[in-house]
Amino acid sequence: MTPREKILQLRGNSPLILPSLLLCDFGDLQSEIALLEKAGVRALHLDVMDGMFVPNMTYGMPIVEGLSRHTSMPLDVHLMIEDPSRYVEQFAAAGSDLITVHVEACSDLKGTLEQIRDLGVASGVALNPDTPLETILPHLELCDLVLCMSVNAGFGGQSFNPVAIEKLNQLVQIREQQRLEFILEVDGGVNVDTIQDCYDAGATWFVAGSSIFRQPCYQLAVSDLTAAATG
Ligand code: DX5
Ligand code: ZN
Repeated sequence: MTPREKILQLRGNSPLILPSLLLCDFGDLQSEIALLEKAGVRALHLDVMDGMFVPNMTYGMPIVEGLSRHTSMPLDVHLMIEDPSRYVEQFAAAGSDLITVHVEACSDLKGTLEQIRDLGVASGVALNPDTPLETILPHLELCDLVLCMSVNAGFGGQSFNPVAIEKLNQLVQIREQQRLEFILEVDGGVNVDTIQDCYDAGATWFVAGSSIFRQPCYQLAVSDLTAAATG
């Protein structure tokens, strides 16, 4: 099975909670992964930041590669880096199953999405709260996933910006009109108070950082989020 097929297999899962590996214990990733697997998590969200596209820096290919050796869970890799096409091949080789790039960071969005698909990896496009939806509309048929940011990319622990809800509503309509099948994911400030509005607006994949890693029990955090989504 190709990485893309692995992601497409999970497409119908809703709500799917994806822990964002930004606030976890990087000194003991193996235990963190084991705890998440025990909590019923089915896929991981990896936040890659370059200190250029966003002011913060995190990690790159070696962490993706290390994780891919320790878990069979699909890896949803969120690239918050300038001109991501430079690194797409290396992130694919490191074991990414889904690579999401920011429209604001791409000089050639179409080419970058094609490059990801050609590598057998699922393709995603992300847009920040202030970025108009129109910027991605011409390329939706090349997207397996659209990521509506509900905070400005860069840091965990920010509060939810409801502009993502409007975008999700519009994207649901566009997806229906154009008979497309991209997954709708939301990222930033997702917690038990904000998740239901996202779910009602059509998101099915939910990235969660603080609402998992700042809780004492991951299993409870994941089940609370899942229950809160559907009300
Ligand atoms: C922000 C990242 C998010 C973030 C989510 O730039 O893309 O994945 O870690 O963290 P919370 O859930 O704490 O907002
Ligand atoms: Zn993210």
